[in-house]
Parts: sequence; C-alpha cells; structure tokens
Amino acid sequence: MVKRNNDFFKVKKTWSEVKDELLGCYLKPYIQKILYTQRPIIYIDCFAGKGKFEDGNPGSPLIALNTMQGCLGQTKMNDWSIKPFFIDLNYADDLRANLAEYGEVCIIPGRYENEIEKLLADKSGCNVFLYIDPYGIKNLDYGLFQSFSTQYRFNSIELLINMNSFGFIREGCRVLGVPFEDASIFEDLIEYESTKLEANEKSVNVLNDIAGGDYWQAIIKAKNRNELSIYEAEAQFAEQYCNRMRQNYKYVLNMPLKIKCGQLPKYRMIHATNHVEGCLLMVDNICGRWQLMKYIQDGGQMQLWEENYNNDMVNKEDIHKKIIKYVSGYVSFCRLNAVLADFFMKYGPICKASVVKSVLKNLEGQGLLEVKRNPAYTNKGKRSSFFSDDRKQKTEIRWHS
Ligand SMILES: C[S@@+](CC[C@H](N)C(=O)[O-])C[C@H]1O[C@@H](n2cnc3c(N)ncnc32)[C@H](O)[C@@H]1O
Repeated sequence: MVKRNNDFFKVKKTWSEVKDELLGCYLKPYIQKILYTQRPIIYIDCFAGKGKFEDGNPGSPLIALNTMQGCLGQTKMNDWSIKPFFIDLNYADDLRANLAEYGEVCIIPGRYENEIEKLLADKSGCNVFLYIDPYGIKNLDYGLFQSFSTQYRFNSIELLINMNSFGFIREGCRVLGVPFEDASIFEDLIEYESTKLEANEKSVNVLNDIAGGDYWQAIIKAKNRNELSIYEAEAQFAEQYCNRMRQNYKYVLNMPLKIKCGQLPKYRMIHATNHVEGCLLMVDNICGRWQLMKYIQDGGQMQLWEENYNNDMVNKEDIHKKIIKYVSGYVSFCRLNAVLADFFMKYGPICKASVVKSVLKNLEGQGLLEVKRNPAYTNKGKRSSFFSDDRKQKTEIRWHS
C-alpha cells in the first residue's frame, strides 16, 4: 500500500518506534564511549523529517538531541564537542520550530545527496555518525557510502541505514521483467513515496548504484527460475548487501524489522562501522530492541520459546557449539573484542556479547582457552580475573593447542 508523504508524520507507527529505539539506545553508549577520543562528534540526520510527529511523539531529531543532552549532563569530561546537523528536503521549517528549544542546531534544507559531501568536507579528524532514514531506496547511492569510508580522514565513521530491502527486490523484478508475487503479500507493508522504476537499462544501472554492484541480478534471476522464494530472495539480497558493505566497513550488522512473524521484513536497519566497540554495542542493542519488536509481533502475548532477532528459535546448545567451533580457530593470541565482533559477523547478533563471554570464561576454566590479561595482577597482588577488553583492562585469548 503506497501512502502520501505527509501522512507519515500524523501518528508515529509501531515500526518507527522500534527503529527510533534502535537509534536512541545505541547513541547513548556510542556517545559515552566516543567522547573519550577527545575528537568532535558530528551527528547528521540525513533525512530528518519534522522533528516531532503530530501526535506529540518524538521523531529521530528529538530522540538524538535528548540523548545527547542526557550524555553531556552525565559526562565528567570538560573538553567535548558534539555538533548535530539535520537535513530534510521538505520540512526545514517544521524542524526549526520543533527544535527551537535546543539552541544551536544546524538545519539544512535540501537533498542529502546534494548536501552531504559539502557538509563533510571540513570534518576530517572528527567522529562522524550518519543516520540515513529515507522513504524508499532511490536515495541510497552506495557510491556515497563507499566514499565516506575512503575519501575522508575522519577519526571514525558510522552509518545507521534504513534499507527497504523488499522494495529493492520488487524493483529488481520490475526492471528485469520478472513476474512479481500477488500484491497482497505487501498489503501490511505500508510504504511512503515508494520508488517505482521503468523496465530499462537506465533503471538496471540505478539499482546497480544502490546495491554497489550487480550481484542482485543473479538473485532476481534465481527467483524467476523458482529456485528462491520471495522471502529467500530478500534475505539473500540483505546478506549480499551487507557483504558488499564489509568491503568498506569492517563490521556490518542488520536487523530485520517485521511487524508480524513470518512476514517479509518491513525494512532492515543496517549498521556499519570500523570500530569493534561500535559493533559490540550494536549487537547488544539489537538483542535488547528485539524484545520490543517481539512484543509488537505477538500483540503482548507471552511466547513459550525464546526467539532471536531473526525470528529463529534460540537454541542455547547450538550457540554454545558455534562459539566453540569459532574460537577453536584462534591459535594465536587475539584481542577479546575482535574475536567477539568477528563471531557476530559470521553468525549475526544471535545473542548478547555477555553470553559469548560467559561461554569463553567457562572454556578458560576447563583449560581449553588461554587468556592473557593486562593488568595481569590486581592492586592487591592477586591474579586478575576480569573478562573485558576496554581502555583500562585488556584481554587476549587463544585456543589451547
Ligand atoms: C522516513 S522520513 C524520516 C523520518 C525521521 N527519521 C523520523 O524518525 O522522524 C523521510 C524524510 O526524508 C525527507 N526527504 C525526502 N527526500 C529527501 C532527500 N533527497 N534528501 C533529504 N531529505 C529527503 C522527507 O521529507 C521525509 O521527511
């Protein structure tokens, strides 16, 4: 069902709440951690909207600004700088009115694709976070995402992208002339300003630019030969899109947002970063937000079994086996956080980082894992037993050969 742009801000929808929680709950620990780099933080909401929904609920700009204020109120650091920017093509005046009480915020009327490079040009050395939440797929030019990681000298760069992957598959079918499922499959998937491309060579190139390659064409062709269902095609596209992003960002995670279990995801929230801590924070964030998503899917009903972010049943034994299989490949010492993040790159955010750590700690107890800690001893001269890897405590692990 396609809806008009203006309806979007009348009432905040449940899926927007999950999306905004993913942003707000991530930003808090992200800011707290990244303040310690003592470099300016540049936060850019590239498709900011009105700031606030007409029912009074906060939009992504208010969520970010409130989170920033909260973090700065708590930090003991004196020397910090956070600069928020809000770009929107249609709602700069609403943004000005709704963000007035937040003092100096920069509102940029215009198109993200025209403004972003100018805005980033003098931000080298900064920590940059981009929130990218467009209506459809047409603004998601992969070339820009690639340039953010290769052409600027930021201290760090992170992206949180709302990718309408089912919209991409639908357009892929259209431009390659592949028959598409009965439209009823999309009935619950309300879209605003959905992208509609013609079946021609130019459109094929548009989709190549969005996907960052032509790998999507093989997926659509496999679907046409009935080798893949629409669900499998969407999941494969999301997986390959994340793999493509990993060529430019070390850690890429995605959370499908489904309003009902068994449905196609409404969209996928994709997080890309080169920072191991950012990846681990987002893993825990996805696991935490999943509770809200599940509550929405089940209409508040209790479920007898636990599920993960992908609606797969949680099998603790299986997670345990995966951890052992994975960590037994580390024959040389490696920093704990890097091992954890690589585990989640392979298997997805199937559990919180603390779950993996507690399995690893047990393996140490069984003599299967060697652990090097720095500092090796506590102030009281006892052997350290922490299992963390941060500014003050460093841990390296390797499989006991
Ligand atoms: C999904 S809404 C954003 C909602 C917002 N993130 C929130 O949570 O409140 C997408 C926004 O993108 C704006 N927009 C559309 N095309 C744009 C473009 N090319 N550049 C920047 N903004 C655009 C629309 O006006 C709309 O406000």
